[in-house]
Amino acid sequence: MAVKAIRRMGDPLLWARAQEVADVCASALEDLVADMKDTMAALHGAGLAAPQIGVPLRVVIFGVSANPRYPEASPVPETVLVNPVIQPLGDEQEEAWEGCLSVPGMRGLVPRYRRVRYRGFGIDGATVDREAEGFHARVVQHECDHLDGILYPARIRDLKFFGYESVLFPEGFGDQDA
Ligand code: NI
Repeated sequence: MAVKAIRRMGDPLLWARAQEVADVCASALEDLVADMKDTMAALHGAGLAAPQIGVPLRVVIFGVSANPRYPEASPVPETVLVNPVIQPLGDEQEEAWEGCLSVPGMRGLVPRYRRVRYRGFGIDGATVDREAEGFHARVVQHECDHLDGILYPARIRDLKFFGYESVLFPEGFGDQDA
């Protein structure tokens, strides 16, 4: 398919709620997911939500394979989620640095639930129902926020912890944008 242009913060579409997918098995959905995968791969992202390529539907993809350069980063299974729903497991939150393909060059310290259950449909219509914690849970929460028109800077508690990656992390940063 094709690598699509990423919408960046300031675009009103990124602040809008995306719509549920009515027909999970439609071929148009396969084309959308193929474009999302191509785009995420080209940008070395950890995840991508359909609104980021200008499609206001509730579809996200994510996945992080083990990277020898960043042995600390935990792998996340390659996943397509249509109409996802997230449920926090417990009240515990933790803060960690995030980046977003729609907010290029920036990093922010964002609180997220440590453990979540997430459900949705795969591209084949099969149900996905998983529990996740840590970085995996964080990526899912970041992507699903995109579907509700929330970009991570809106969740930062103290803007002292929001800035340019090159200033905050002059030695480089381990995790990928999402
Ligand atoms: Ni993002």
